[in-house]
Amino acid sequence: MKMPKDFLFGAASASYQVEGAWNEDGKGVSNWDVFSKIPGKTFEGTNGDVAIDHYHRYKEDIALMAEMGLESYRFSIAWTRIIPDGTGEVNQKGLDFYNNVIDECLKYGIIPFVTLYHWDLPQPLEEDGGWRNTKTSDAFVRFAEVCYKAFGDRVRNWITFNETVIFCSLGYLTGAHPPGIEGDAKAYFQATHNVFVAHARAVESFKKSGYEGEIGITHVFNPAFSIDDDEDNKFAERHANAYSTHWYYDPILKGSYPEYVTDALEAQGLLPEMTEEELALLRRTAPMNDFIGLNYYCPQRVMKNDSALVMSGGRENSTGKPGNPSFDGVYKTVMMDDKEYTKWGWEIAPDAFLDGMRMLKERYGNIKIYITENGLGDEDPIAGEEILDQPRIDYIESHLRAVKNAVSEGINVSGYFAWSVIDLLSWLNGYKKQYGFIYVDHKNGLARKRKQSFFWYKDIIATRAEEL
Ligand code: BG6
Repeated sequence: MKMPKDFLFGAASASYQVEGAWNEDGKGVSNWDVFSKIPGKTFEGTNGDVAIDHYHRYKEDIALMAEMGLESYRFSIAWTRIIPDGTGEVNQKGLDFYNNVIDECLKYGIIPFVTLYHWDLPQPLEEDGGWRNTKTSDAFVRFAEVCYKAFGDRVRNWITFNETVIFCSLGYLTGAHPPGIEGDAKAYFQATHNVFVAHARAVESFKKSGYEGEIGITHVFNPAFSIDDDEDNKFAERHANAYSTHWYYDPILKGSYPEYVTDALEAQGLLPEMTEEELALLRRTAPMNDFIGLNYYCPQRVMKNDSALVMSGGRENSTGKPGNPSFDGVYKTVMMDDKEYTKWGWEIAPDAFLDGMRMLKERYGNIKIYITENGLGDEDPIAGEEILDQPRIDYIESHLRAVKNAVSEGINVSGYFAWSVIDLLSWLNGYKKQYGFIYVDHKNGLARKRKQSFFWYKDIIATRAEEL
């Protein structure tokens, strides 16, 4: 079977991870510009000041995407380029840059798929309480509206937020991302609620604006599975899915929070402050979401947690490797002997991907899905001129097959974006962990080279994955 004609084959990036030019053309300072420079926060002190210099090389990069046959490019907009201090004047040069990127994509027939928020928050907003403060939501909605107005004549696909669970949990539970706070569960839940409200307001505003196109949110998708049939571990599975999936997907797709979680949070004094008006907004806007974006890398294998340890902080949590108790100490994630893992300890599990999509369909109906990220983080072997990244090909191939199976059984998946289109800065792993189809040579003036996977993906797109 060939993938349907309107199924999008794409690949993705994010502003802070590729652009560089951190203080050029009127750009303001973001929380990541500040956080990455605090000693010990990132791998070998890497930061996005230059990144892979996409800001100056976007034409070359988009030409390579076109050569690969990419149908859509998912990228994010740096808020600090558009509204440098988060709330004040709009910066024309920032608009110009994204106008150029969008036009360059369209020149080759590549659909620009825009993420409004991929973690780089204007620093003044971070200092004012970040996502704990509803002023940040107000500022976000204005930023979104500026973007709709500037780019809405050409951009038809909008994602409000990338992975709320990551920037909130690493920001307020483990301290591995800005603002670097550890063990503040109250702030964590409050921030997530404020993001959902900001999303809902941005969706409603988009729908009222009359621009054509679709809008949704991108969530981490890491469905939890018990390691065995033991009742305690089965309970751990339900608990994990409630906190890491339902808490995030329900307010967006059902317009309400899962009672199992709200009851527990209320009893623990962790329930976010929420107004009747906000709850009504969530209910009203849920049906307006045109799609849900899934970033799938691996599932969680869970069991009951016996130790008294809770996730109070510690950098080990930020690698994504299993072995940590949940924030409330109820369950823990574990590595299993019969599973396959990447060098960073992320399980390679295409079957769990398909099972997870079935679970989503069961709970939320046949909502339109885009796979907005999926890929393999690896240290690619560099042999002479060739970059032979067969493990990446194997990973993407098996996950694309899962997507194909999902489509053939009637799950509404409408596109697949590999992470990442080009090697880029990993937030916490520097340039050591690579994901791209295009290699960036940091020892040779950031020269671009096509990897083996580049040619493989080109062929997959050209044949619409018929052979998979
Ligand atoms: C996702 C993010 O969480 O995972 C990306 O949306 C990120 O921005 C990707 O790069 C891979 O993460 P890591 O830690 O392996 O570089």
